[in-house]
Amino acid sequence: MARRRTPRSVFDYVDGGAEREVALGRARAAFDRVEFVPHVLRDVSTVSTETQILGRPSALPFVFAPTGFTRMMHTAGEPAVARAAAAAGIPYALSTVGTTSPEDVAAASGDGRRWFQLYVWRDRERSRALMDRAWAAGFEALVLTVDVPVPGARLRDSRSGLTIPPTLSARTFIDGALHPRWLVDFLTTEPLTFASMPSGPSMSLEQIAGSMFDPTVEWDDLHWFREAWPGALVVKGVQRLDDAVRLPDYGVDAVVLSNHGGRQLDRAPTPLELLPDVVHEVGSRLEVLVDTGVRSGADAVAAVALGASAVLVGRAYLYGLMAGGEAGVQRVIELLRADVVRTMQLLGVTRVSDLDESVVRLWT
Ligand code: GLV
Repeated sequence: MARRRTPRSVFDYVDGGAEREVALGRARAAFDRVEFVPHVLRDVSTVSTETQILGRPSALPFVFAPTGFTRMMHTAGEPAVARAAAAAGIPYALSTVGTTSPEDVAAASGDGRRWFQLYVWRDRERSRALMDRAWAAGFEALVLTVDVPVPGARLRDSRSGLTIPPTLSARTFIDGALHPRWLVDFLTTEPLTFASMPSGPSMSLEQIAGSMFDPTVEWDDLHWFREAWPGALVVKGVQRLDDAVRLPDYGVDAVVLSNHGGRQLDRAPTPLELLPDVVHEVGSRLEVLVDTGVRSGADAVAAVALGASAVLVGRAYLYGLMAGGEAGVQRVIELLRADVVRTMQLLGVTRVSDLDESVVRLWT
């Protein structure tokens, strides 16, 4: 439905990965190599999907991941996603390249848990100003993305000529005309600007990321972030064990094992495969989350059984948003929830904390 309702270039931005999309394909395939090993003859009449993420309750082992330019997918954008997440009792992470300000997301999510994702600016004081705004607006965690020293090569976007905000070329005009509802919304609602950065001329993603983000960031810079951010510090995009084990020494609270949804380095390691070793080596000192390739509640159950506290999903809710705005996001949450509940029942497990290595194997 998402594919039908949005211009091809917009759908492809969400759906696509970097280069030949090998990392993305492998991340999906890893979930197919999961074997569930159920306990039988157990009372599973009532199941609780509640769990702890960063020391606070979440209704499901899901976090809605930061995604860029969300109002481009559907004009309801970040506020709709944040509201749906808050209503469902799960955290929502706003992206630096979001198209709604931290303050407006805070207003939409109310008492809901919210995290702020940061790309490091070349100008460090700009990062600080943004962090201050997020903290003042009640964002509890800072998610520092570390897998974008430079942008990945999103070949679908290069081919479609996608710029942010979209510009009207002959091709985008035809694409838009084929999706009149999207086009009317796009043309009649607030222009698509970045909420956290000055807006300028339309640029390709590569130009945006390449001109603003800082490729010089190093391990020692983590000290600066740890000092500047009073809340939980999450580092997202770690892809090897020796990097993960260093994080506690820098005061980092949690790691997201991620290859950015296969959107950065193609042929990157598969996060789900890295998970058991990282949990084994540093799980007692560092909370471990995982993303990339998660599309179902059963995927989340598998990741939790392999040691993650939760999974992040981006595309999954964006497909819902593109298909049906806020109602589409709500529908995705219902599907994910029903899937988690049924999978736990069939596994003979009634609490998230009982999902452990006894119920899952990862075929190699
Ligand atoms: C933004 O972070 C993207 O992956 O497109």
